[in-house]
Amino acid sequence: MPERIFIGVAWPYPNGPLHLGHIAGAYLPADIFARYHRVKGNEVLMVSGSDAHGTPVTVLADKESRTPQEIFERYHASFLRSFRGLGISFDIFTHTDTPNHAQTARDIFLKLYERGHFLKQRTRQLYSPTLNMFLPDRYVEGTCPRCGFARARGDQCDKCGSLLDPLDLKEPRCKLDGSVPEVRETDHLFLRLGDFEERLKAWVRKQTHWRSNVHRFTLGYLEEGLKPRAMTRDLAWGIPVPVAGFDGKCIYVWFEAVIGYLSASKQYFQERGDPEGWRRFWQGPEVKSYYFIGKDNIPFHTIIWPAILMGYGGLNLPYDVPANEYLTLEGRKLSTSEAWAVWVPDYLERYDPDPLRYTLSVTMPESGDLDFTWKEFVRRNNDELVATYGNLVNRVLTFTYRNFDRRVPRPAHLDARDQALLAKAKHTLQAVDKALAHTSFREAVREAFSLAQEGNRYLEDLAPWKTLREDPQRTATTLWVALYAIAALKTVLGPFLPFSSEKLHHFLGLEGTAAGAGWAIQEPVPGRPLREPAALFKKLEEQVALDERARLEAARVGG
Ligand code: MF3
Ligand code: ZN
Repeated sequence: MPERIFIGVAWPYPNGPLHLGHIAGAYLPADIFARYHRVKGNEVLMVSGSDAHGTPVTVLADKESRTPQEIFERYHASFLRSFRGLGISFDIFTHTDTPNHAQTARDIFLKLYERGHFLKQRTRQLYSPTLNMFLPDRYVEGTCPRCGFARARGDQCDKCGSLLDPLDLKEPRCKLDGSVPEVRETDHLFLRLGDFEERLKAWVRKQTHWRSNVHRFTLGYLEEGLKPRAMTRDLAWGIPVPVAGFDGKCIYVWFEAVIGYLSASKQYFQERGDPEGWRRFWQGPEVKSYYFIGKDNIPFHTIIWPAILMGYGGLNLPYDVPANEYLTLEGRKLSTSEAWAVWVPDYLERYDPDPLRYTLSVTMPESGDLDFTWKEFVRRNNDELVATYGNLVNRVLTFTYRNFDRRVPRPAHLDARDQALLAKAKHTLQAVDKALAHTSFREAVREAFSLAQEGNRYLEDLAPWKTLREDPQRTATTLWVALYAIAALKTVLGPFLPFSSEKLHHFLGLEGTAAGAGWAIQEPVPGRPLREPAALFKKLEEQVALDERARLEAARVGG
């Protein structure tokens, strides 16, 4: 029975291009997971989209004197290109500014409202008399009450990391025009998260399969008790609050963005003429829903979104939330404002997607922060992809192609060394399978790669180029066994290196695609024609690391 797997991936704010932190944190693991399940024959729905509303977009729009619409369209298009270039295989990547999403969000908001889960509260908020508007948290700057940093944001201090309320700031000023805001009162609807506290606690305690950092963090959060949380904002860019008396206010961006997982699923099936099809991924205990996110998004996916789902009823709660920690860059925290980042569009202009996918898989910050350096990138590309995996594939395919009539040779007697490599290949298929099923991506890629290393050692030991003259049968056997290992590598590395696996599939003379060939080792059939091989990977000059490092330093501002 095929499994049914829903994969939700964090919705990026369209206020800048994607960088490596986004990719390592959420998009790459989600894609590896989706490809793995698809090749196994499972039914997968992988969704996300641009998180179009809220102040991250309006702040940039104001800065550039553009409309939020223009900003979000620009980066939405950029995201689509980045995902295509890196092979991030969404079934749908939409955005939150669609009528379908607004309707889905309104429906859920109203259902919770009718059931009494919202509380109206008068709040005190900063108001700009010069701009005639309430100032969103990110529009206010001032001195941090904790550490004295002079440029703390209304929602958070970037110096000491404290979460702030804009009213806490000393000497607050408006970021748009520098004016001094005043305190005014305004009404908001607060979600009574306490209504769900006991159910959430009971549910979270049972999720012992979650990564321990996610599980511990969530339980700790719940232990502190859930206070009502404002789910409306004084903001014009967003989805209007569907309740009378809240004119000019919008639904809080986090409340509606998580609903995107559901609305995107509906859109996907609507576009395929199967408007009820989404139910197969949202209802029924057999579906497993995974949410791939960075660690700063954990409470929204393990508490707020589950609370919304509980309040609405009839839809599946997350099965797992494999949140990643942070990727650092050359030893320093990635920062958009300091321009300390490697942007995906820049990367794709200069290099192929698989080397990045490989490097980020091996250094995926699953259980702690991990660092990306250009030096390591070049080293892994040259030593591991080119010299180990690529070299194994290239030597075996070229040698066979030239000396065995461009066909898979027929093996003779298999000795212990042959048997050992075949066993290693079979074992690797299982080990990688198991690691991927548990979202242990680093472990999976290391397992897969150890087969390439083993294959290289085997080839060195048996040196078919030396035995060709006096023992063609022995040579044929060696090459056949090596082809078997390569066929296994094509499968186990497929979710990580999809472009290379498709090439390899082609060179091996197989029909169809690697992605459609199943989680199996396609035994090389003696006599089957091979196709002309070419190198899978390109060697990079050492200078690349220095140039890229210099490029980063040159772009860096402040800090
Ligand atoms: N836009 C948010 C961020 O970049 C993530 C939103 S995830 C969603 O941090 F589920 F809420 F959409
Ligand atoms: Zn501070």
